[in-house]
Amino acid sequence: MNRERYKSTSGVIIAPSILSADFGRLAWDIKRVENGGADWLHLDVMDGHFVPNISFGPMVVEFVRDNSDLYLDAHLMIDNPEEYIDKFNIAGVNSITLHAEVEGVVPDLLKAIKDMGLDVGISINPKTPVEVLEEAYQWVDLVLVMSVHPGFGGQRFIEDSLDNVRKIAARISQLDRDISIQIDGGIDAENAGSVVEAGARCLVAGSSIFKHKQLDPAAAIKAIRDAAEAAL
Ligand code: DX5
Ligand code: ZN
Repeated sequence: MNRERYKSTSGVIIAPSILSADFGRLAWDIKRVENGGADWLHLDVMDGHFVPNISFGPMVVEFVRDNSDLYLDAHLMIDNPEEYIDKFNIAGVNSITLHAEVEGVVPDLLKAIKDMGLDVGISINPKTPVEVLEEAYQWVDLVLVMSVHPGFGGQRFIEDSLDNVRKIAARISQLDRDISIQIDGGIDAENAGSVVEAGARCLVAGSSIFKHKQLDPAAAIKAIRDAAEAAL
């Protein structure tokens, strides 16, 4: 099982979100992106409370772990995350990202995730002011900037989120911290260049990889990576 911590690279990380995979043949879709050059698998956990949709929990994550050696990045869109981090750790994730908007997402909880030997991330919704991240910068490995309102795959990229990426990138460099910026929502080969220019280095993509009208997942990953790397 791959429980490696994330090592920063000078390149771009492409993280397909399995939310857009075909769950009737999930193992096959996982293999397709793994063989197609995915760096991570992004796992969107939704509870029907913090977001108006329910996806999957630790049991499915355990199945994903059994079927892949990729770095597993869990994006928890849930209330009461403190009750579940242990379960996701046992299920085999490499990192856990929590939302800054959720009550109880405090430094101690971020530290608890680090103490499990995992990487930890903090996420903000498109309308959340970036200043709420101030306290978290000293604990996190990753900041996830949502570029759609969380809850569903297949939404349109919100252009204003580029400003959030720029502001966060400037603050991270001012603090001189080794924190990767991840962007999630509506990412495709068209906007991959602009998000990298703004400072994102980890690109989550669901529908533009698993539901692309012309390209298979491997070709879709390559198109996003080529566009992203051209902007480095
Ligand atoms: C939305 C999720 C995203 C979503 C991305 O709440 O966090 O990860 O799966 O899907 P696309 O790429 O289709 O916007
Ligand atoms: Zn996500």
